[in-house]
Amino acid sequence: MSSAVPLLEGIDPYGIQVLREPASTYGHIREAGPAVYSPEREVWLVGRYDSARRVLRDHREFRSGLGAGYTRVPEHGNNYPLVDSDPPRHTRVRRSVQTEFGREAMERLRPLVRATAVGLVEAAVAAGQIDAVSLFASPLPDLSTRLLTGIEPPDSLRMRVWANAVGQLHGPDLDPSEENLVSQAFDWLSGEGVPALPKHCMGRRVMEDGGMNGALAESERLTTLFSLWLAGVDSSNGLIGNVVNAFAEFPEEWDAVLADPGLIPNAVEEVLRWDSPLRSVYRRTTVDVDIDGVVVPADADVCVLIPPANRDPRRFADPDRLDISRVDAKAHLALGTSIHLCVGAPLARMEAIELLTALARRVRRIERTAPAVRAASQTMSKFESLPVRLVAR
Ligand code: HEM
Repeated sequence: MSSAVPLLEGIDPYGIQVLREPASTYGHIREAGPAVYSPEREVWLVGRYDSARRVLRDHREFRSGLGAGYTRVPEHGNNYPLVDSDPPRHTRVRRSVQTEFGREAMERLRPLVRATAVGLVEAAVAAGQIDAVSLFASPLPDLSTRLLTGIEPPDSLRMRVWANAVGQLHGPDLDPSEENLVSQAFDWLSGEGVPALPKHCMGRRVMEDGGMNGALAESERLTTLFSLWLAGVDSSNGLIGNVVNAFAEFPEEWDAVLADPGLIPNAVEEVLRWDSPLRSVYRRTTVDVDIDGVVVPADADVCVLIPPANRDPRRFADPDRLDISRVDAKAHLALGTSIHLCVGAPLARMEAIELLTALARRVRRIERTAPAVRAASQTMSKFESLPVRLVAR
């Protein structure tokens, strides 16, 4: 075991340039060592696949109870009962909502998500030249989330602004206006959203029954519902935009989809690997830990960088290439792993699969009409605008 500490000096991993063009800095961090200390941010960055996976799977040495984002949360404060908690609380809360995302529940949603995706694709094909963010990436997660939870937000734009603010809270450099937006969303949900819930929906099961097994305490119900409501909107927005961008970038892979639509589920996994929406998740060490030869002290902030781990050449052959037939695409960490594995993953996957299926029926080629603009988000790899032409089949 060596105690040499690889340092990331003079580079802010959250600098604006890094956010717009992260690949080279993320690659540099990954190659600098299994855990690299950033004096700028006082965090340990983990960008190699094996080390990242180990951190995510070892919830005893790397805990979430002090927050899974950049800013620590008070252990017994008003933190999210799923992502910001450890067993045994996490296990209890997770069991109370897990079946909402089970196969049966998802298959009930599928026809509605499918109809939404088909409608969006028809409108886009009719328009020809579109911004894939405003036509696909924004509306599809918005509508799917309504179907999942039963919550009808006052308007779509406000919901997206709230969801974006929730995403930003995961990163550093918090803007007070974003904190205000999150409080506004909470107030709206408890004051108007919950009382207006339809009779049979996830929202009511969480709020009135305490989840499927009745295990949620009264005090946990609103925060649990809140995270199921808004946690997946911005990240799924990222995935949908990244999917369209990937096939504009690699037209030969789109040809492969058209030749065999059976490849679509694996194509979604490959896009999650190649362009992972969530940039990072955090853990706090409970003891001194040796991460593959680098000793990280107890009570340190550890940041798992998902995009470079998913492009680690030690794990994935030719990692910068999009290959929808890649046999081990699903090994990516884009949706986390182990006990905190994304609970909404089945819905996110379904949205992307249904959109690609609808596109494959109607679209021969996806062509760029202007450069895509990446959002300078500290938490999400997603697009601000993605102008493309859909050439009909
Ligand atoms: C492509 C879209 C999505 C991505 C990339 C994503 C990513 C992730 C990741 C990486 C984690 C693990 C966090 C950690 O280990 O600390 C996670 C957890 C979580 N996600 Fe997602 N997610 C997506 C969609 C969704 C959706 C649609 C929902 C809800 C409907 C959702 C709700 C959650 C919740 C509640 C957790 C916490 C689970 C737990 O701690 O047990 N996510 N997500």
